[in-house]
This record gives sequence, C-alpha cells and structure tokens, in this order.
Amino acid sequence: MLVGMLTGGGDCPGLNAVIRAVVRKGEIRFKDRFVGFADGWRGVIEDREVPLDVERCRGILPRGGTILGTSRTNPYRVPEGVMKARATLSSREIDALVVIGGEDTLGVANRLCAEGIPVVGVPKTIDNDLSGTELTFGFHTAVQIATDAIDRLHTTAESHDRVIVCEVMGRNAGWIATYAGIAGGAAEILVPEEPFDIDEICTKLTERHAKGRYASIVVVAEGARPIEGTLSLASREVDAFGHERLGGIANRLAEEIEIRTGFEARVTILGHVQRCGTPTAFDRVLATRFGVAAIDAVHDGDFGKMVALQGGRIVRVPIGEAVSELKTLDKSLFHDVAGIFFS
Ligand code: F6P
Repeated sequence: MLVGMLTGGGDCPGLNAVIRAVVRKGEIRFKDRFVGFADGWRGVIEDREVPLDVERCRGILPRGGTILGTSRTNPYRVPEGVMKARATLSSREIDALVVIGGEDTLGVANRLCAEGIPVVGVPKTIDNDLSGTELTFGFHTAVQIATDAIDRLHTTAESHDRVIVCEVMGRNAGWIATYAGIAGGAAEILVPEEPFDIDEICTKLTERHAKGRYASIVVVAEGARPIEGTLSLASREVDAFGHERLGGIANRLAEEIEIRTGFEARVTILGHVQRCGTPTAFDRVLATRFGVAAIDAVHDGDFGKMVALQGGRIVRVPIGEAVSELKTLDKSLFHDVAGIFFS
C-alpha cells in the first residue's frame, strides 16, 4: 500500500518512535511505501512531502520532536483547505493516512474520514487529555521533566524560605500538574477541573508555615482558574482551533500570595521544556506499540479508528469517541491521593 503519514498539533516526545514503528513494520512486513507529509495538515493542503523509509528512520527512536514537522493548521479554516487536501491524497493515490495527533488533529481526521478519506489515528499529547485511551505517549516524559524540576526547586525554596509557584502545561486538564505535584511533593496543586480559592490557599500556606514548616512548592496547571469573581486574569489569544493560548497564571498567583501572606514568592514556568528532548523509555515503548498497531489497522482496513491503551492492552476505538469529550482529571486521584498531602 501507499501510506501517508503526518504529525499535527504541538510536538511531543515519542512522535519519532511512532513514525519509525509504522514505517518499519509497514515496509518490512507488508512491503508498503510511505509518503510523509510535512508540518501536519498544512503539508497535505500544500502537497509537501518528507521522504520516509526505513533508512531515513534510523537513529530517530530517542529523538524528541518530529522528523515530519508539525503545525496547528486546521484545513477547515484554510480557504479551500479540505478540497486541496483531498486533491493531494487522490493525485498521489494514497491508500491510507496515518494521523498522529491530539484532539484537534484527530478531530480533523474524524471529519475527513466521514467524508471518505481512509484514516487511522494515533493518540499524541503531553496533556493526556484524549478520551478512549488511558494514556497518550509524551505524558510520561512531561511528568518526569516537571518532577525533576520540582525536586530541584525544593532546594532553593528551602534555602531562602520561599514559596515557589511552578507552572506546568496540560491545557484544560490537570494530569501533568497532579502527577508531577504528587511525585514532587507539592504543598498545593491547582488544576483546571477544580477552580481554586486564593483565600483558602493563602490560609493553608500561612498555617503550614506557622506549624514550623517552610518553603512551599505550589504546582499550578496553566489552565487552572480561580473561583469566579475572586481573582482577575488577563484575557488571551485563540489559535486556529479556537483554543486559548495559555501560560502565565503563576505570575498572578505568586504576586497575590506574596501580598496576602507576606512570604517571599517566586515563579518558575516550565513551558516548552516539558515537550523537549528525549522520550522516557516508557513513552518509547508505548509509542512503538501504537505505531505497530496503527499499521496493522491500516492493513485490516479498519479506518476511522484510533489505536489506544486500555487495561494495558492496545485496542482500537472510533476516533469520534476519542475526540468527542476531553478526558479530564480523575477526581479521586486528585482528592484521595494528592489531597491528603496538601498540608
Ligand atoms: O497540547 C500540548 C501543549 O503543550 C499544551 O500543554 C500547551 O498549552 C500548548 O500545547 C502550547 O502550544 P504551543 O506550542 O503552540 O505554544
């Protein structure tokens, strides 16, 4: 078969491991040929190719980023975008398209599939917010990077007896904040799913320090929000999929904590470092399993499906199911596990 492949949305550790697995199994087992499309859906619209075969995939397994390039292009928002994408796929006689992406990229895949394009999806995002799969690759790496940073922040926070507000990514889900906060021993974790009360946080920090403890790490998800009407936040730009560009809430929080408690507060915004560099071994294995399963789905003609992890096994779920609803934080993890350490 002639199989097209693209990576869309924010890059993520493990993308190259998926690409390599798809190409290796496809070329060696099935004698497939591949067309890599450059920069996500933009490369399909503009018919731009990245050559892709087993030789070109050598050495990419541990590399972060994506050899195909990526973008947040939405063909449904580009003039004649869908028509051009269809024209590229039909003029190249692409038999199937493997789409590696998150909610937005796979949302486009789902719509195109309903219009007759044979697509198989692979779930990617450090945010771990895709439904239908227990985990997305990239999440484990992001959590490890954030945890390493929090471990380091403890020593400077303790030396200066400060509050450090550490902001992590995750968009509108608190998975990274909760995992990294638990692993890093944060005094407080603030997530989008539970609007926070700045009064309560400051009271808890004051009580904690009054008990003789000092140096608090507050982990805040970039998408965390105060209870309405309690703290003003700046408005933000939106991207091609209508999502707010997040980042910076830690500055506002630290400022308020310092004013209200009198403790010196500092800010660390981890930002894109959480998406950079080499994937953990766990993410390399998960990405490889997804890649192998994706090319199998192509050869089974099982289009419109996304490969997923459920109960430790790789399964296939309808892409529509995966993108219909955001997979927000497991509340019991937040309250029953993380919550008992907030002191
Ligand atoms: O979805 C992954 C993610 O890293 C989010 O956690 C974050 O809000 C966003 O992408 C940042 O996007 P960009 O790379 O476009 O700034």
